[in-house]
Amino acid sequence: MTIPKWIAAAVELLELQPDDHILEIGCGNGAAAVLVCERLAGGHLVALDRSEKQIRLARERLRPYLQAGKVSLRVTALESASLDDAKFDKIFAINVNCFWLRYEQPLAVVMRLLKPDGMFFVFYEHPAAAKMIEMAPVLRTNLVESSFTIRQEVTTGPVYCLVSSPQSEEGE
Ligand SMILES: C[S@@+](CC[C@H](N)C(=O)[O-])C[C@H]1O[C@@H](n2cnc3c(N)ncnc32)[C@H](O)[C@@H]1O
Repeated sequence: MTIPKWIAAAVELLELQPDDHILEIGCGNGAAAVLVCERLAGGHLVALDRSEKQIRLARERLRPYLQAGKVSLRVTALESASLDDAKFDKIFAINVNCFWLRYEQPLAVVMRLLKPDGMFFVFYEHPAAAKMIEMAPVLRTNLVESSFTIRQEVTTGPVYCLVSSPQSEEGE
């Protein structure tokens, strides 16, 4: 199965380390998850999606990595994910829209699941420039209001990426 080039570009931006513990929100059919698993050695990926159908497709695609214990798949909405209070080095979402409207609960869950020095990556396939100018400030504001600090904003080819992390106690 081919993986869209822009998904590969997004995964590159994660700068994965072999022992990272990663959460993917809205993994769909598992295209990015395959690339993440290829890069992990001692680390682990949890990939969740609220759609049973998408998780079924991801299960097929990720079979060797599931058998190797490198990835776990969960059918759940982010908003109700408990994940046994796991903590992640990096959390990412590609083309998932729950961080725009009614963002409070989804971002509170991300904050709870992220290590204090962890990073949260939100990716979108780059829409028309005018639309991005309109949308990006909303996303930044939602993150800041949810106690994240914006670390980086990258546009590379068709990929828009916003990287944030939990605010430190000093309130930087
Ligand atoms: C546009 S698709 C993107 C799929 C995949 N990330 C990709 O880029 O190919 C959005 C996916 O996010 C899932 N999704 C949307 N909101 C979600 C939420 N709040 N919790 C869990 N999954 C969600 C949908 O079920 C869908 O599979």
